[in-house]
Amino acid sequence: MNKKLFIPLVAATALAACQPTTETAEDRFIDQLLSQMTLEEKIGQMNQLNFDQPLDTVKAQVRRGEIGSMLNIPVDIINEVQRTAMEESRLGIPLIIGRDVIHGYKTVFPIPLGQAASFNPQVVEDGGRVAAIEATSQGMRWTFAPMLDVSRDARWGRIAESLGEDPYLAAELGAAMVRGFQGDSLNDPTSMAACAKHFVGYGASEGGRDYNSTQIPLRSLRNVYLPPFQRAIETGAATVMTSFNDNDGVPSSCNDFLLRTVLRDEWRFDGFVVSDWNSMGEMMAHGVAADRKDVARLSANAGLDMEMVSYTYMDYLPELVAEGAVPMEHIDQAVRNILRIKYRLGLFDNPYIDTDKPSPLYAEEHLQKARTAATQSAILLKNDGVLPLKTSQTVAIIGPMADAPHDQLGTWSFDGEQSHTVTPLKALQTEYKQVKYHYEPGLRYSRDTNTDRFQAVKRAVRQSDVAVVFVGEEAILSGEAHSLSNINLIGKQSDLLQAVKSVGKPVVMVVMAGRPLTIERDLPYADAVLYSFHPGTMGGPAILDLLFGRENPSGKLPVTFVREVGQIPMYYNHHNTGRPAQDWFTPIDQIPLNAQQTSLGNTSFYLDSGRDPLFPFGYGLSYTRFEYANLRLSDTVASPTGVITATATIKNVGTTDGTEVVQLYVRDLVGSIARPVRELKGFQRVHLKAGESKAVTFTLPVQDLAFYGKDLVKKVEPGKFHLWIAPNSAEGLQSEFRVK
Ligand code: GLC
Repeated sequence: MNKKLFIPLVAATALAACQPTTETAEDRFIDQLLSQMTLEEKIGQMNQLNFDQPLDTVKAQVRRGEIGSMLNIPVDIINEVQRTAMEESRLGIPLIIGRDVIHGYKTVFPIPLGQAASFNPQVVEDGGRVAAIEATSQGMRWTFAPMLDVSRDARWGRIAESLGEDPYLAAELGAAMVRGFQGDSLNDPTSMAACAKHFVGYGASEGGRDYNSTQIPLRSLRNVYLPPFQRAIETGAATVMTSFNDNDGVPSSCNDFLLRTVLRDEWRFDGFVVSDWNSMGEMMAHGVAADRKDVARLSANAGLDMEMVSYTYMDYLPELVAEGAVPMEHIDQAVRNILRIKYRLGLFDNPYIDTDKPSPLYAEEHLQKARTAATQSAILLKNDGVLPLKTSQTVAIIGPMADAPHDQLGTWSFDGEQSHTVTPLKALQTEYKQVKYHYEPGLRYSRDTNTDRFQAVKRAVRQSDVAVVFVGEEAILSGEAHSLSNINLIGKQSDLLQAVKSVGKPVVMVVMAGRPLTIERDLPYADAVLYSFHPGTMGGPAILDLLFGRENPSGKLPVTFVREVGQIPMYYNHHNTGRPAQDWFTPIDQIPLNAQQTSLGNTSFYLDSGRDPLFPFGYGLSYTRFEYANLRLSDTVASPTGVITATATIKNVGTTDGTEVVQLYVRDLVGSIARPVRELKGFQRVHLKAGESKAVTFTLPVQDLAFYGKDLVKKVEPGKFHLWIAPNSAEGLQSEFRVK
């Protein structure tokens, strides 16, 4: 405990001892500290700076109590700056140090979209725990993750960072990430405060163009975009970050409905809210704040506790408080929220990096967990029998992503080191030495248009039994500010694939990307397709284990794969519309000449690409096959407070052991508003030996069917429901029940 705070703590404890109160030690500590703070010191706590000034400048600001948090501070000076805060500022309040540790610190896991494909909360929690152990050993006690933006638009670069298109999956896996980051107790030195971001609706940026406006009506906000955040808060997420977008004209960083009504009044959130990078300052560009003073006024009154880098609180809150434009109570509440998290993290007692501890970076256990995550995150989209490969086969290793150590890590791998990446080529050379191979990338990087090496590629393929073509996206092509209007394989990768196929050998396409790409045109040239959303440090061994059958693919799509970018937005949990398309349509090149106006049917589909995506949410193949049979429900009528159990028998009818992600979907057939044609309400990873069958049961509380209806009140509405136990969102065994 810092000596400066020892007296007030003793006073607080003594005072507490003589009066019965429900106040906690935490409350007393915060009250005592707050009562000693000047207005400037309070505002200093609300100020987060990036480390982009000379060290002496930073230390002088810290000494004056002008900084409450820093991000991106070099590890080797964290203790020095923290010591300045603890020992040279008047009150000795520790800084909280933040960093974007999104999917790993040094040991990089698959990007969150990849982790979501595992449908495995334990894998996601393990990833958060590994990231926290590594990052906290370097002084980061706060990460700006999980990113919980429901994302239905593959043009949006940040879909890479999301947990996909489904609110339930994002909620389940986001909660797992929070548990991983925060551990059993926030004050454990290996615990890192989580940050549920970007609050809210950022994934619905119009046109998939980053930072663009969103138009999310309140019912959709309540039923689709808010639930993952509510789940994260219920799981104990310590902080929340506001999003860049204006929703229906209101920027999130001054949206008091979100920050006060929803977050505080409804969800009883008691952590703190931080803006995104200059998202407050950008309210002037939005045309909502007239100047920086207006920015400070709007955000402080809306309930935004900490300002990331735009510095308007420091510059204007003193006079805004003096003028009465910002009540002192708003300042005090913001500072309480910040001090509360610092207290819970144990920073007042233990603010420094323990440099005597052995380094946990790249621990073997961490690498193994990253390998497991990459293995379970890969999705087998097609296999005409060419997979699994045999180690006796001679393999042509082709493509720009076969040995791309930087790009394999994906976006937001700030601290990952490509020198530690094990690429597929490196894994072949180290763990599959018995395999004969010919390596010819053909293209130097994903955007490369130089086809000079294509003849060399064909020679390599001619000398081999099978070709594996590694294509996809460089890491820079997804992530923040990296939206695409064309999501085909970029450069000459499709040409490369066709050149390989022209030789006449079996071809496997492995895609490493940050988003679902439109690969329909490539499928005819690939006898098998394995999709791996930038798989991280251990992606190479994981992919080879899958290709050679040491592991059986089990990943399922957390996001819809469209046929054409023009189909976007297309997602599985859509409304039926008044004119749902049928499952057949006249292909555009078969429409007769002089066709009559209504001859093609007036329903909701595309003349050129129909109604359906290329691959639906929840889709993924295995080296074996699973049969679903005998769906039975505990009841056909349920009370609104009851529980429905649904059971189906899943059988592995193949010759290979495998894991199936069994999914539970429901549909509310009639509601006070139109309801999705399917909603995921449960999933289980079920391992089955060859020939084994298992009864898989889901227990569904009827309250899980509640939604915000026409009157914007959340409740279960009576009526008929369909229920599926399914391998994906487009198939499955169907039954029905009724809620009284
Ligand atoms: C960025 C991102 C946000 C990130 C923050 C700090 O602009 O929008 O996700 O955590 O700034 O780097």
